[in-house]
Amino acid sequence: MRSAILEVLKHNSGQYVSGEDISHTLKVSRTAVWKHIRGLKEDGYDIEAHPRLGYALRHNTDRLLPAEIKAQLTSRILGREIHYFSETDSTNNEAKKLAADGCPEGTVVVAEAQVSGRGRLARGWFSPYGKGIWLSVVLRPPFSPMEAAKCTLMAAVAVNRAINAVTGAGCGIKWPNDILCNGRKVVGILTEMSAEMDAINHIIIGMGINVNIEPFDFPAELAATATSLAIASGHQVSRLKLLTTILAELENVYIPVKTSGFGSVLEDWKSQSITLGQLVDVRGFDRSFTGVAINIDVDGALLIETAQGLERVLAGDVSI
Ligand code: BTN
Repeated sequence: MRSAILEVLKHNSGQYVSGEDISHTLKVSRTAVWKHIRGLKEDGYDIEAHPRLGYALRHNTDRLLPAEIKAQLTSRILGREIHYFSETDSTNNEAKKLAADGCPEGTVVVAEAQVSGRGRLARGWFSPYGKGIWLSVVLRPPFSPMEAAKCTLMAAVAVNRAINAVTGAGCGIKWPNDILCNGRKVVGILTEMSAEMDAINHIIIGMGINVNIEPFDFPAELAATATSLAIASGHQVSRLKLLTTILAELENVYIPVKTSGFGSVLEDWKSQSITLGQLVDVRGFDRSFTGVAINIDVDGALLIETAQGLERVLAGDVSI
C-alpha cells in the first residue's frame, strides 16, 4: 500500500493530492493513508502535508531503497534481489550470509553506512551514512577458483566505466582494482570467494565508492590519499543513477566473460589503466622492488621490468 500511495504522489508530480482522493482511489481509510505517508517520510521522501490540500511529493528520497533502485535498473540478473540496510557492519558480511543460504546470482546488498567496512589487506573502509555507495554483489561464475582474481579486474572496468559516464570525473584504474581521480582513491574493491578445489561456490564483489563525501568528512589518515566523486567533479552526484549504472556495466562485462572469457575485459582494463607505463614501487608479502609496469597478463598479474629482469606480481601493494 505504501508503494501505491507513493505512485499516486509521483504521478501527480509535485501537485497536492487530497487524503480523501488517495483513500478513495486505493480503497483504504484516511488514517491508513496518513500512517503510510508518515512511513514514506521516515524513508526520506520529502512530502508536504497541507490541512486542506492534502499531500505533495517535493523531493524523492536520496536513500538507496530497493524500490527506487528497481525503478531505474536496466540489468536483468544483477539486482534481481536487493537487500537494503540503513546501517550494517559490512555489506560483504551480509552478502556472505545470503550466499551461504543459497541466494540467487546477482543478489545485491547495499547500505547507507557500514560500521566495520572492510578493505583489502585487513584494512578498514571509511563508510559514512548516505555519502557513498557501499555495495556487494553475489556472483556464481562457472570459473575455476584460480580465475577468481579476474572478477576483480572485471569489476574495476565496470565501475570505472560507470563513474566516467555518470560524472565525467576522468578516473582511471590503478592495479589491481583501485580507482583513482587526480591521484587519489575514490573506489576500493574487495573480492571474497568461497570455493571447493575445482569450482567456485560464490564470489562476493564488494565495492566502496566515495560519492558525495566532503573534504572535511575524511578522517586525518585518509585526508592526503582519498577523494570523492563530488570533490573531483565539482558537483553532487546521484548515488541512485551511479549505482544502477554500475550494475548495468557489471552485467555488460560479466555476461560476455562467462561465455567467451576474459579477453575483452583485459583490453578494456589496459585502456583504462593508470599503472601501465609508470615507475612503480611494489611491496609484496616477502619482497619489495621498483620497476616499470609494462603489462598485465591473462591471469591479471602485473608484469614489471626491473634492473634485475621481469617480475610478475599477482598480489600486493603497488604505488605509483
Ligand atoms: C580496498 O581496500 O580498496 C577495498 C575496499 C572495499 C570496500 C567495500 S565497501 C562495500 C564492501 N563491504 C565491505 O566491508 N567492504 C567492501
